[in-house]
Amino acid sequence: MKALVLAGGSGTRLRPFSYSMPKQLIPIANTPVLEYVVRNILDLGVNEIGVIVNSRDNEIQQVLGDGSRFGARLTYIRQEDPLGLAHTVAIARDFLGDDDFVMFLGDNMLPDGISGIADDFAAGRPAAHIVVRKVPDPRAFGVAELGPDREVLRLVEKPQRPRSDLALIGVYFFTAAIHEAIASITPSARGELEITDAIQWLVTRGADVRASEYEGYWKDTGKVADVLECNARILDGLRPCVDGTADNTSVLVGPVIVEEGARIVRSRIEGPAIIGAGTVVEDSHIGPHTSVGRGCAVVNSRLTHSIVLDGASVTGVQGLHSSLVGRSATVGITTQSTDRYRLVIGDHTQVEVAA
Ligand code: TTP
Repeated sequence: MKALVLAGGSGTRLRPFSYSMPKQLIPIANTPVLEYVVRNILDLGVNEIGVIVNSRDNEIQQVLGDGSRFGARLTYIRQEDPLGLAHTVAIARDFLGDDDFVMFLGDNMLPDGISGIADDFAAGRPAAHIVVRKVPDPRAFGVAELGPDREVLRLVEKPQRPRSDLALIGVYFFTAAIHEAIASITPSARGELEITDAIQWLVTRGADVRASEYEGYWKDTGKVADVLECNARILDGLRPCVDGTADNTSVLVGPVIVEEGARIVRSRIEGPAIIGAGTVVEDSHIGPHTSVGRGCAVVNSRLTHSIVLDGASVTGVQGLHSSLVGRSATVGITTQSTDRYRLVIGDHTQVEVAA
C-alpha cells in the first residue's frame, strides 16, 4: 500500500495566507497541517508517500524534507495547474504503479486517525472505498447515496438538491481499478477532473465501491474559521510542558505549552495555549485556545481564541479575538491619534474594528 497526499490546489478560500504560503502548512497548535496528515498515514504502517505539490514545492520540501525525520519515504510530484483531484492520481501513475493506495487531502485534519477505515478497506478490498460523514448542508461537498450494506449507489459533486446528507471527506482508498476510471472521464464544468466522477464511473460499471462513516473529529482547514476551530480542538488535547521560562509574576493556568527559549514576563497564559520557541510575551494575557508561533512578540495585549504565526508582533492591543495574524505581521496601536485607524493590509484581507 502507498499513499498520495494532495498539497497543491489554489487555496482561494484561505486568502490572504495562501498568497504567501501553501495552505497545507498553516500551523495547528504550532505544527503544520501536512505534518498531521503524514503521521496519520504512517500510523497505518504505510511509509511510501507521494506528495502532490504546485510551484510552492520549496516551502513544503523545507518542512517535510525527504520524510526520513518521520520514518517516511517521500516522493514529490509536481502538478503545474490545479486540474482536479483525479488529475493528481493521473500524474502520480508512475509512482503508484498497480499498488493499492490511500489518497489524503493535505488540508484535512483527522486527529483521531484513519486506521478503522483502512481496516474496512482491507476487509473487502473493494475497487474504491470512500469516507463519508453526515453534514447539515451537503451542497458544498461530493454527496454519496448508500445501500443497506454501505455500498455506494451514486455520487454527485456539489448537488443543488442533495439526495442524502452524507458528504465525502478527504480520505479515499483505491485499488489500481481507479486508473482506468480516471482515464475514461472528462473534465467537469469547472474544468477539473473530478474524483467523484471517476468513482461514479466505477459504480456505473458494477464495480464494488464501499463507504465508511467517520465518527471521529474531522475538519477541512480550507477556511479561517475552520482553522481556528481546529486549533482550539487540538490544543484541548495537548499535554502541558514548559521548556521556556516564566518569571515569578507570571501565571500559567491549565494546559499550557511554552516552547524552548520562549519568555513569559508579567503575564497570564490561560490554557489550552501554546507559546512558540523564542517568543517573548510581556504584560499580556493570552488564551484560552490560542497559539502563538515562533519568534513572536506579544506586549501589553490580550488575545483569545486566536493564532499568531511565526515572527509576528502584537503590541498594545486589548481584546484580539478569533483572529489569525500572518507571518511577520505587525498589529499595534497608533500614536498619532485616538480616533483613527491606520491599516496596511494585503489583498483579500479581512479586518473588523470596534464600531
Ligand atoms: P480543495 O480545498 O478542494 O481545493 P483548493 O486547494 O483549490 O482550495 P479552494 O477551494 O480554497 O480554492 O483541495 C483539497 C486538497 O487537494 C487541498 O490540499 C489542495 C489539493 N489539490 C491538489 O493538490 N490539486 C488539485 O488540482 C486540487 C483541486 C486540489
